[in-house]
Amino acid sequence: MCGIVGYIGNEDVKETILSGLEKLEYRGYDSAGIAILNGNGLHIYKDKGRISHLREIVDFSINGTLGIGHTRWATHGKPNQINSHPHQSSTKRFTLVHNGIIENEEELIIEHLSDATFESDTDTEAIAQLIQKFSDEGNSTDRAIRYTLGLLEGSYALAIIDNENPEVIYAAKNKSPLLLGKGNGFNMIGSDAMAMIHHTNEFFELQDKEYAIITRQDIAIYNLQGRKIERETYFGELDATDIEKGTYPHYMIKEIDEQPFVIRRLIAAYQDEHGNLKVDSDILNQIRECDRIFIIACGTSYHAGMVGKFLFERITKKPTEIHISSEFVYNTPIISEKPLFVFISQSGETADSRAVLVKVKQMGYPTIAMTNVKGSTLYRETDYQLLLHAGPEIAVASTKAYTAQIAVLAIVACAASDSCNFNMLSELSIVANVMEALCDNRELYNELAKEFLTDKKSCFYIGRHVDYYTCLEAALKLKEISYIQTEGFAAGELKHGTIALIENCTPVIAIITQEQINLNTRSNIREVRARGAAVITMSLKRISSEKDQIVIDNVHEFLTPLVTAIPAQYLSYYAALQRGCDIDKPRNLAKSVTVE
Ligand code: AGP
Ligand code: GLU
Repeated sequence: MCGIVGYIGNEDVKETILSGLEKLEYRGYDSAGIAILNGNGLHIYKDKGRISHLREIVDFSINGTLGIGHTRWATHGKPNQINSHPHQSSTKRFTLVHNGIIENEEELIIEHLSDATFESDTDTEAIAQLIQKFSDEGNSTDRAIRYTLGLLEGSYALAIIDNENPEVIYAAKNKSPLLLGKGNGFNMIGSDAMAMIHHTNEFFELQDKEYAIITRQDIAIYNLQGRKIERETYFGELDATDIEKGTYPHYMIKEIDEQPFVIRRLIAAYQDEHGNLKVDSDILNQIRECDRIFIIACGTSYHAGMVGKFLFERITKKPTEIHISSEFVYNTPIISEKPLFVFISQSGETADSRAVLVKVKQMGYPTIAMTNVKGSTLYRETDYQLLLHAGPEIAVASTKAYTAQIAVLAIVACAASDSCNFNMLSELSIVANVMEALCDNRELYNELAKEFLTDKKSCFYIGRHVDYYTCLEAALKLKEISYIQTEGFAAGELKHGTIALIENCTPVIAIITQEQINLNTRSNIREVRARGAAVITMSLKRISSEKDQIVIDNVHEFLTPLVTAIPAQYLSYYAALQRGCDIDKPRNLAKSVTVE
């Protein structure tokens, strides 16, 4: 959610910060700002709106070699110019940008800042005022920051400038992501590696409740007691070209198209030299030894988790529960004697999932992260890790990470099973080929979107069995980027209420991949057709019927969610495109949701 970039070096900072913020745009934001410090003082430009607008208001004749930039996703106060970051203390000595939420802002103001006047409605401004207060009381900046951090409850990634010390950027973190980039003659901070990758590939991790003092030559990390922490750098695996759109008009369609390659990459990553499945033996032991698997996730990852429950129960014969993170954390169900927690998260940063992780770690249970981002918070804080190898996913709507999650779940379920009676890797290789054929057929989905979806207000996906899980994900995909109100329903449930919503020409997309429910779902199609619905049917070749508009080549019955996802993703993409929506950055959404 939102982002931070900072630079201190010898080059002018404007382009580094603005293009770094552009690399973070995918995370979602509503406002942007930049502060540049030079010999003439501090220059702040900020406003509601896109980075392209920020570029228009920045005075390009102002140069400076120290700066911080921010994209805001408003949590306290409207998205407007005043609430945009950077924020300053009342004397203007301290300037900072913040991602996250300060939960005890009101108490801090009552207790420490009753005389201060505030310009904005944000929780952030209180942080600047507190640093100022402790500094005014005679503390060094270092100490004033440390005292302030010690009082903050909630989440923060912070970049702080002290006007009186133009040789330093201070950075701090708790729960919100922040990385430190090590350069030659310069140093950087960024919410993720993508924001810095054009300048450096060498990073220091900053952990929760740590802060850093960053100069042109050095990065020093401290804990909140002021004790210096020795930490090695690591080299990121990100390739700068991975985060470019190339000739594609949107990241989303690029990422949809990449799915066959991602599956092939996964086959290579989870295969040993003899062509057998290769999964960390500690993870397999944990799965075999636990009495129940608890999958924890949100949004699209939750839908992948639903397929995961199916796979673990069918293939591994292990009882599996799937829970929405934000529900689990405050309404925790009964936990079995020997549970294993599996966190599924593309970003590895989702605050709701992390809140569950913190809770179950306190209870002493083993945890696995299944994530696309090596080094992310969930990756670092779990006992075991499984990587999705999907490459950076930039469009807010998750596509290739979803299918990668299902593929990794299938691989692990099979590897942990004593009785998986099929060759998972060769079945996945068939999936990759079928996906490729589906991608080649994109014009069909474009036409179907035009005919059935573009001018509609609502839509339904219906399916049974695993197709029901695909319906939930397909509905999320369509609503989040096209803003067509879409619901995914278990086809058999329609007649228990929802069918009342079917009117003349209401689009209903039916998905059928399982033999045993083929006829039942087709009966449900007849029921909605009889009430005027305009139906698109997507089926697997072996059970297809002549009039089905989307017929998918056969894949293993357990792996059908991997292929039905593809036409659904394209339908969403083309419906959104035809409706003129901002596909990669849909309104109100953020790519990694780092607030609860
Ligand atoms: C997907 O299209 C979404 N935008 C969203 O539901 C996402 O899947 C969810 O926020 C979870 O994110 P994570 O996988 O990074 O934890
Ligand atoms: N809570 C802060 C605000 O509302 C920061 C939000 C963000 O993470 O961008 O301004």
